[in-house]
Amino acid sequence: MAVNKKKPEELRSHRWYGAQDMRSFGHRSRTKQMGFAAEDYAGKPVIAILNTFSDANPCHHHFKSRVDDVKRGIFQAGGFPLEMPAMSLGEPFMKPTTMLYRNLLSMDVEELLRANPVDGVVLMGGCDKTVPAMLMGAASMNLPAIFLPAGPMLRGNWHGKTLGSGSDVWKYWAEKRAGNIDDKAWVEIEDGIARSFGTCMTMGTASTMASAAEALGMTLPGAGSIPAADSNHPRMSAACGRRIVEMVWEDLKPSDIMTTAAFENAVMTVTALAGSTNSIIHLIAMAGRIGAALDLDKFDALAKRVPVLSNLRPSGKYLMEDFYYAGGLPALLAQLEKFLHKDCITANGKTLGENIAGAQIYNDDVIRTLANPAAPEGGIAVLRGSLAPSGAVIKPPAAEPHLLKHRGPAIVFKDYNDMAARIDDPNLGATKDSVLILQSAGPLGAPGMPEWGQLPIPKRLLEAGVRDMVRISDARMSGTSYGACVLHVAPESALGGPLALVKDGDIVSLDVPARKLDLEISAAEMAARKAAWKAPAEHYPRGYGWMHHRHVTQANEGCDFDFLRGTAPIPDPEIH
Ligand code: FES
Repeated sequence: MAVNKKKPEELRSHRWYGAQDMRSFGHRSRTKQMGFAAEDYAGKPVIAILNTFSDANPCHHHFKSRVDDVKRGIFQAGGFPLEMPAMSLGEPFMKPTTMLYRNLLSMDVEELLRANPVDGVVLMGGCDKTVPAMLMGAASMNLPAIFLPAGPMLRGNWHGKTLGSGSDVWKYWAEKRAGNIDDKAWVEIEDGIARSFGTCMTMGTASTMASAAEALGMTLPGAGSIPAADSNHPRMSAACGRRIVEMVWEDLKPSDIMTTAAFENAVMTVTALAGSTNSIIHLIAMAGRIGAALDLDKFDALAKRVPVLSNLRPSGKYLMEDFYYAGGLPALLAQLEKFLHKDCITANGKTLGENIAGAQIYNDDVIRTLANPAAPEGGIAVLRGSLAPSGAVIKPPAAEPHLLKHRGPAIVFKDYNDMAARIDDPNLGATKDSVLILQSAGPLGAPGMPEWGQLPIPKRLLEAGVRDMVRISDARMSGTSYGACVLHVAPESALGGPLALVKDGDIVSLDVPARKLDLEISAAEMAARKAAWKAPAEHYPRGYGWMHHRHVTQANEGCDFDFLRGTAPIPDPEIH
């Protein structure tokens, strides 16, 4: 790519610092107020570091000091860093779900960049929604940007057994409910499952989205797999600081990197990782911001093209630390080489093909070769049918294979509280063939589409040895979850989609190979039930939730706000 080197007076920040008027006097004098001299900032790219550190986000606990490594790199390369706190979306604490606030963080990012004297940005995120939110905001603002993933935490440990975030919580909680784990063991697992700062170390949403960001070209090569506690992580942080300064001079923007071809690379990467189903929603939303073509059908077609090559929990055996030692994402991408658009430009100014050339696998059980894949087809499937006219998704490798083609009678829960109250009721009447249905869990219904899609197995069935059942909802599922869970059903039940019309005992049929999901009632019966359906009351009388209700789109459209999509230019602010 030709380097279009800017002159200092062409920097966006020059409008703040370079003019000779009263306002720029204020900008300079207030920079000096912080102890900086003209030698620190004059004529230099101003780099925002958007830091999502928060004491309420343990996954980003190291960002408080890691930001100093980013600043070091920026200074080394002749830039001027301005650290700005951005809203932190900490999965472990926020309720009803961080997803309710993904779009709010994206707006935070976009408007921080627009309002301040910024030429380029390092985005410090990692915990699930922070990745798409920051990339969505940066895409909309379209200033040179580089994403620094928080990195996964170290492997969990209990009595010498490896523990994976989320996945082993669900697993051992089921064993506790089945009476196989006592309270003492449960506390020991609690002590050992999160041993360092960093994001979930399974191939959950954080690792999936960090990998997607790398495949998209928005990180430096290899950044998506480095464990947070590894000394390579602060070195990578400094490298991001150095590189963003060059990107400003080169005017290398997200619109140059986040192309339709780059999104196709990201989708194939996610499916080869058997990554989180949440990535479907996020990648569609990200593409919608920058005008790239991506929808559910393309996702499914690309997923069919590539095999699953990672052997990571929740679908496989290993964790992100193992993945890093096995060669990390560059090694996996090198295996996918023949499927990828290798000429896509990436944040380091090189093509994806150049970045992955010669990348080696060091453990071919963790990262499989094309000759020995973990599964022959990609890890995500899109379903349609009378129960999901606008689509639904499932992660086939995470389900017991015999459930991928299944017919069974529905047991319907009208919302999460109803499910929580009745799931272990001995009179529920569930058998291993029942299909558990959860309503009111979508973008509007919950609200915010929480990760409720892995409905628990009823206790009586757990005690009888059942560990998977078909479960269907308009919710999402944690990327660390597993099971035959059909998710993201659209239109959602709160909009009167067919999911709202299912009754106990209706036969539901799931056929993943045929990509079908059907409610076996007549069209006339469906129409009669729809005519009798009443829309639920709104959750919020005012505030952000009120706005969310009016503008959030459905799962198949990425759940972005309708007014944030697209690439219509917004003028820079007047600075006088
Ligand atoms: Fe933060 Fe999983 S809770 S990445």
